[in-house]
Amino acid sequence: MLESQDQKKLDELFSSMQEANGCFLGYPFAKGFDYEQLWRFMSLTGNNLGDPFEPGTYRVNSHAFECDVIDFFARLFRAPSCEVWGYVTNGGTEGNIYGLYLARELYPDAVAYFSRDTHYSVSKGVRLLGLEHSVVRSQSNGEMDYDDLAQRATRSRTRPAVVVANIGTTMKEGKDDTLKIRAVLHDVGISAIYIHSDAALCGPYAPLINPKPAFDFADGADSITLSGHKFLGAPMPCGVVLSHKLHVQRVMRKIDYIGSSDTTLSGSRNAYTPIMLWYAIRSLGIEGIKQIFQQCERLAAYTADELNVRGVRAWRNPNALTVVLPPVEDSIKTKWQIATQDISHLVITPGTTKQQTDALIEAITNRNR
Ligand SMILES: Cc1ncc(COP(=O)(O)O)c(C=O)c1O
Repeated sequence: MLESQDQKKLDELFSSMQEANGCFLGYPFAKGFDYEQLWRFMSLTGNNLGDPFEPGTYRVNSHAFECDVIDFFARLFRAPSCEVWGYVTNGGTEGNIYGLYLARELYPDAVAYFSRDTHYSVSKGVRLLGLEHSVVRSQSNGEMDYDDLAQRATRSRTRPAVVVANIGTTMKEGKDDTLKIRAVLHDVGISAIYIHSDAALCGPYAPLINPKPAFDFADGADSITLSGHKFLGAPMPCGVVLSHKLHVQRVMRKIDYIGSSDTTLSGSRNAYTPIMLWYAIRSLGIEGIKQIFQQCERLAAYTADELNVRGVRAWRNPNALTVVLPPVEDSIKTKWQIATQDISHLVITPGTTKQQTDALIEAITNRNR
């Protein structure tokens, strides 16, 4: 039983998080999900320790559901059957570090290449793993500059190349092309190549858009990651990472203590997020994901158009849910939690309403008058 001042503190936290949830447009987090059917699990201990595909001593897990989630994304990302493995992570960052880890184990003397527009988790990953790296210029839409990649790779043409491809850069949702990346590297004479696709936001819908971006296993990726909370939605951060089994076998260690293999980055792992992701993909299905993406995309198009009509130079990449605009004022940045660097952006994720974007448009354009 809490003391009354602690109860008050807790209630105030709930109110302030609820208020912040209502005006949260600058970062990609889905809102409005409904996992009420899963609340009963919160009274149980759950831990997905160990390899989801192996039995172990621990049984308080949701491994079976985690495997379903991995199978779903393996199919969506055109993985060769039975040759891909994966697990549910704490988010896109863990997936990126895991992909880089597999790459480093395969090619310890590689140079890692990624564009200037890449999420900061990737530079953290290469520092952690002691991988030499080279930051490639970006085009104005956020996509990698392939000529600059060619020049940089030429300088290290005797060494393997690890490339992180962005399938939706953080600020502009620019998409790199894994087929072009492979072609550029082959042209400069590099054949030892590992490509990790960072599809943190776009992963669930990228395969469903037309034209489909080149990023999946059939397009030459060795590993792919996505964040679960960004588009599918979850109350806590989560993600998925998938990789060719051969790469994972290189890092696998048998652990008697848990009666299973250690193949993941964390030891104890969340047992609830796989259930949430499972619930989301089962209840939506591919058709539902597509429909939700289309709704978001329509709202993103409307928002960019409306800002332009009102004199704000907003734009977005084709099929993007991210609307890029000039930097917003501090008061708007704070209230609407708008990610701002040399540009600002808002991201139309599932659960974002027209009322919210209209209120933000109003706030931005009233300042401009
Ligand atoms: C492109 C990209 N990659 C990775 C991440 C990190 O994902 P997470 O916050 O789930 O760790 C983000 C987060 O915004 C991102 O935009």
